Amino acid sequence: MQLPEPVRRKIEERVAPVGFPALKRASAEVSEAYREGRTPTLGTAARTAAYLVTRMPATFAAADAVLREVRERLGSAKVESVLDVGAGSGAASLAAQRWFSESRFTLIERDAIMADAAREILPGARIRMEDFTRLERFPPHDLVIAAYALGEARRPEVVARLWEAARVALVVIEPGTPRGFGWILDARSLLLASGAYMVAPCPGAGPCPLADPDWCHFAARVERTSLHRRLKQAELNYEDEKFSYVAVARESVTPAASRIIRRPRHSPGLVVLETCTPRGVETVRATQRDRDRFRAARRSGWGDPFPPA
Ligand SMILES: C[S@@+](CC[C@H](N)C(=O)[O-])C[C@H]1O[C@@H](n2cnc3c(N)ncnc32)[C@H](O)[C@@H]1O
Repeated sequence: MQLPEPVRRKIEERVAPVGFPALKRASAEVSEAYREGRTPTLGTAARTAAYLVTRMPATFAAADAVLREVRERLGSAKVESVLDVGAGSGAASLAAQRWFSESRFTLIERDAIMADAAREILPGARIRMEDFTRLERFPPHDLVIAAYALGEARRPEVVARLWEAARVALVVIEPGTPRGFGWILDARSLLLASGAYMVAPCPGAGPCPLADPDWCHFAARVERTSLHRRLKQAELNYEDEKFSYVAVARESVTPAASRIIRRPRHSPGLVVLETCTPRGVETVRATQRDRDRFRAARRSGWGDPFPPA
């Protein structure tokens, strides 16, 4: 997975005037802040450029994986408008455009340089430059998304307002860390208690069976651009973005029968899957003796429903 070609070109043009040394410094500052669980101040051209090169492809890939699943689970539900809160440079909206192409988009972002990047990347979207924690009500939209924004704003009460604004569904995505999952778990409890129906990733609305120090997260593989590799002095031309999420809806949908919550382990004649089921966490050992199940397990990945649709 990588950002669409025209977007990569726009990012290259925006980043070029910053120059490699300043970009490298900014990238190190942004990475260090994320590593230490701090919120980086993105409000400079160099730091925004660093975000566009090193983080946006990954958050786009995570949102794409989540929204593909949400689109599938929502079935024929019409989604004609999307609200993206804490939108940054528009990664989640860009992904949503792929799956909800008939929608119009509203983005809320407080940082002027990030908002400007979003304007360039999503020329058809409406961009509101505002602090979303100060809004008592969000404008109602069919689909509301908060991607990598809730934990940064550190205001749990926003979840109820996001839900109020969601006419069809709400999606919250956070980094796939214990801390990110903590935000997701709290949001999940509040939303289910407010009458929301589970869409994904959980197979049901029962209590989450994953207990500390375990946490529910998934991974999206992202191709690194050569500039990204140079900035990170990385050899690999890809990285795995870890994310946690919850998606809920106003109407009930059919959730996954179970979901694969670890990378599957393959050995000759055997695939082992850790799955989350309505009964709790279960290990599936698929062997060649059961051909259909073995084949299904072999083509399933971390984060997929099991058995596949
Ligand atoms: C980690 S970035 C994520 C951006 C984007 N959603 C993505 O997935 O790439 C978090 C964004 O939320 C914005 N943000 C954080 N708190 C905010 C607030 N209170 N009001 C508006 N935007 C906020 C930040 O400025 C930043 O652009």
